[in-house]
Amino acid sequence: MNRVHVDLGENSYDIFIQPGLLQEIPSLTRSLSLQGSIFIISDTRVASIYGELVLKQFQKVGKAHLLTVPEGESSKSISMADSLYTQLLQLGANRKDTIIALGGGVIGDLAGFVAATFMRGIPFIQIPTTVLAQVDSSVGGKVGINHPMGKNLIGAFYQPRLVIIDPDVLHSLDERQVRAGLAEVIKYAFISDPVLFQTLETHLESIIRLEEKTLVNAVLEKCCQIKAEVVRQDEKESGLRAILNFGHTLGHALEAVTGYRTLYHGEAVAHGMIMALELSKTCGLSNQEVSRGQNLVRRLEVAPLPENLDPAAILEAMARDKKRLKNVQNWILLTSIGNAVITNNISPKQTKTVLTDLRG
Ligand code: GLY
Repeated sequence: MNRVHVDLGENSYDIFIQPGLLQEIPSLTRSLSLQGSIFIISDTRVASIYGELVLKQFQKVGKAHLLTVPEGESSKSISMADSLYTQLLQLGANRKDTIIALGGGVIGDLAGFVAATFMRGIPFIQIPTTVLAQVDSSVGGKVGINHPMGKNLIGAFYQPRLVIIDPDVLHSLDERQVRAGLAEVIKYAFISDPVLFQTLETHLESIIRLEEKTLVNAVLEKCCQIKAEVVRQDEKESGLRAILNFGHTLGHALEAVTGYRTLYHGEAVAHGMIMALELSKTCGLSNQEVSRGQNLVRRLEVAPLPENLDPAAILEAMARDKKRLKNVQNWILLTSIGNAVITNNISPKQTKTVLTDLRG
């Protein structure tokens, strides 16, 4: 079985990656010596496919319950967290119990947040079921919920005890979701791994179709290794961890101006990466590498940006983000494929030019 270790001192944990792992939960969790009851938190879509299987697996470990929330970003709210606290209390949950996040990024963030705060923190395990969650959000301990004033504004760094990645579950995703999630995979190649970049250049369409299990597994594992190493060096994002946000400066603004409804997160990141590649020319990325990078992202064929997007509105969304977080406008850009830098040397005028040239 493929294993990636996230080395964070007493908060260290393993990520197991292999097709069929959902059937092997008791042996995977044995070394954790889980005590108490198990509360699986999932959304209605994922629970309808995998809920019973995962519940049965955990019933071999202890007393297990399945709690579901509606699918979608709106579940990442304080009211949904509150409803889960109430259900946990009504079911007699206590500090020895364990929460399982079974689902995509929304569920991982929400269930992780509930685990981080219920009775000052109880153990939790991530079982991510989307590409995005398997390569990014389930690893590294960022958990949280949204606030009406912005996404992910309430949360914690709270590491899981274990991450179980079963690539077989990706077959129940629609292709749009797979393509969007693969934007984050391409991101890892850009920021850290020219060899992964070449693999993606050669095999992207096969990976989108999830055709070759060994290849898909190896790509997921590589992404987890990169993320684990970045998080090991900078768990709380005092510097380096920000490179994981390549394509996200514009991506977040694109999500905001489209009301978080039109684009999936990965789709916004894909467009953000195309623009960030263009801006990376200022850091020495060659024209040839910009084209190679943009061609790879374009092969994802993600949903296009809505027509008539106003560059000024995107700049405003970025400025709002910056003000709220009391930051300078940091950009993650590339000096070459596989090497990222953090810079604040990009003027709004340069951004506007790129936005105007590339929109649509
Ligand atoms: N998704 C970016 C991070 O975990 O830091």
